[in-house]
Amino acid sequence: MSLQVNVSAGAVSVRQSAEQLRILSVLNDLHLKYKPLTDGKVADYIPQLAKVSPDLFGICIATADGQVFEVGDYDYLFTIQSISKPFVYGLALEDHGREYVRTRVGVEPTGDAFNSIIKLDERSKRPHNPLVNAGAIAMTSIIKGTDPTDKLNRILDLFQRYTGHGILADMSVFMSERTTGHRNRAIAHLMLNFGMIDGNVDEALDLYFQQCSLMVSCRDLAVMGATLANHGVNPLTGKRAIPAEYVRDILSVMFTCGLYDYAGEWAYRIGLPAKSGVGGGMLAVVPGRFGIGVFSPPLDERGNSVRAIKVCEGITEAFGAHIFDVAFCSSPIGTNPLREAPPERPALASDTRNGHTPSPQLEPHRTA
Ligand code: DON
Repeated sequence: MSLQVNVSAGAVSVRQSAEQLRILSVLNDLHLKYKPLTDGKVADYIPQLAKVSPDLFGICIATADGQVFEVGDYDYLFTIQSISKPFVYGLALEDHGREYVRTRVGVEPTGDAFNSIIKLDERSKRPHNPLVNAGAIAMTSIIKGTDPTDKLNRILDLFQRYTGHGILADMSVFMSERTTGHRNRAIAHLMLNFGMIDGNVDEALDLYFQQCSLMVSCRDLAVMGATLANHGVNPLTGKRAIPAEYVRDILSVMFTCGLYDYAGEWAYRIGLPAKSGVGGGMLAVVPGRFGIGVFSPPLDERGNSVRAIKVCEGITEAFGAHIFDVAFCSSPIGTNPLREAPPERPALASDTRNGHTPSPQLEPHRTA
């Protein structure tokens, strides 16, 4: 197992070194704690995804000032899947502006699964949001380009800006989803029927399947998150990935819709804009401070990585990252990207609807 810190931002002071050790030790502890967890199942609805080992597990934090902390399988490449969606939404905003994009997609969470086929808002002629498949396909269908290759190159270029290096697609995953993605084809054709998308549906689907099959590591996800945390500028390259004016749009939909039918519970427990993917990736953003990337293929019944949810919860607690904890933190934004932890909170039991009982600490105190 590897455990390391890469500091790309100038000289390291003694105080920073102590902080870096603490961050690494938090990541290492979370990795050790959740490595034995065997809950969840690797996605198999895209046959090629089922070949990935459930044991792979990497965690990375990249700060808005360009420090990278990583543990485990942090450089293992896997397919980005739905984590591509908020970034392509950003490209659509860049291509067309907010006003037009708002006519093509809403910003309402659905409370449904990512591939819901029934939740299309027929009255507004818009899919509910850009992170469910319907909205994501609609966004991909409006990406500018002279032909399909030009559009794909623009998407590759987008992810190059966010990660700081060239990106490749996993052709076997792409072909696997292209040949079995009947549900997405149905969603796209239904949207064509309702006038929610126009143009060549098969071309849009191919581009959508290609964006989902791009290969990233959890280090890449953390750097992409750090870029959003840094108001659109990649902290490792110093280059802008997205106009600053659209970062808030992206983070808002990630906060409300990024985890689909777990979005409310996620906002309550972890409190960060985030996006999951069925490849086992999770990306979360602590605005102004850092990006988190986690990779662990076994998914829960909602399609979110089991270990990644636990790790993000641990990071939130350790660094006071829940956005409603940050609001009450006395340190000014930006002086220290990984600030002190908030006051201790009792551990939160799992949701009772999932068949778990509440923690005794959270039950009302009864006197005899
Ligand atoms: O549309 C699909 O089925 C996939 N290519 C992406 C789905 C996905 O990652 C859902 N997120 N958790």
